[in-house]
Amino acid sequence: MEKLTGKVAIVTGGSRGIGLAIARALVAEGVHVAITGRSAAQLAAAAPTIESAGPGAVESLQADVRAYDAVERAVAATVARFGGLDILINNAGVGVFADVASMTPNQWADVIETNLTGPFNACHASLPHMRRRGGGFIINISSLAGDNPFVNGAAYCASKAGLNAFSEALMQEVRYDNIRVSYVLPGSVATGFSGRAENAGADWKASSGDVAEVVLNLLRQDPRSLVSRVELRPSKPPRK
Ligand SMILES: NC(=O)c1ccc[n+]([C@@H]2O[C@H](COP(=O)([O-])OP(=O)(O)OC[C@H]3O[C@@H](n4cnc5c(N)ncnc54)[C@H](OP(=O)(O)O)[C@@H]3O)[C@@H](O)[C@H]2O)c1
Repeated sequence: MEKLTGKVAIVTGGSRGIGLAIARALVAEGVHVAITGRSAAQLAAAAPTIESAGPGAVESLQADVRAYDAVERAVAATVARFGGLDILINNAGVGVFADVASMTPNQWADVIETNLTGPFNACHASLPHMRRRGGGFIINISSLAGDNPFVNGAAYCASKAGLNAFSEALMQEVRYDNIRVSYVLPGSVATGFSGRAENAGADWKASSGDVAEVVLNLLRQDPRSLVSRVELRPSKPPRK
């Protein structure tokens, strides 16, 4: 089992929902974590709740994953604060659900740039630091929607299908640099995603903590092997 204590991680979109749970789980393991997000207020509110989860330190960095320069600055700030970078969790994501005829070009761009270009930006900025470190781990938070397109989900499903393909290609590119790449496909998770009430469906959906547990298990896997793709779904969704 890999030891996580003292490692350095970035969690994009770490200010609430799944990213916040992942950041808390990492800090509980003694990982030093930088979280990113667009809202400074949300980052400021999240930092103390992450810090209280355990011995790891926390840095919060305002950075929009759609903007390469901002992402590069956040990665550089993380390396400057903690001395390197071992783990990148590409979690930031948005969902805009509308049929193609109604969706505006701006909404389409927002989804694709956040969910697909964002992970590219963060990987591109992080890989040189991981190579310098002699290895690393990248985990992309995708969605079962990437494999299961549905009406009004053209942008979201396409962004996550793209992220799945991106993850598979990257995994093969960097494996000989001791950098492992995994992607996680959650089904419904009880968060405020896409403007939902945070607790809506909490009685049957997976929890943010369930996704964080999957991330920890991936990181703990002996480096000899790689669990490259994980599907996580609610055990008992409402019957159709
Ligand atoms: N909840 C689900 O049912 C579910 C299921 C499958 C997959 N997922 C995936 O899980 C990930 C997290 O979702 P969640 O449910 O935790 O959503 P959430 O509660 O809405 O949290 C999203 C996080 O991403 C950040 N974010 C959004 N756009 C950003 C941008 N352009 N740059 C930087 N940060 C950005 C948000 O902060 P700011 O708004 O302040 O930027 C927030 O911290 C997403 O990739 C989502 O697609 C969710």
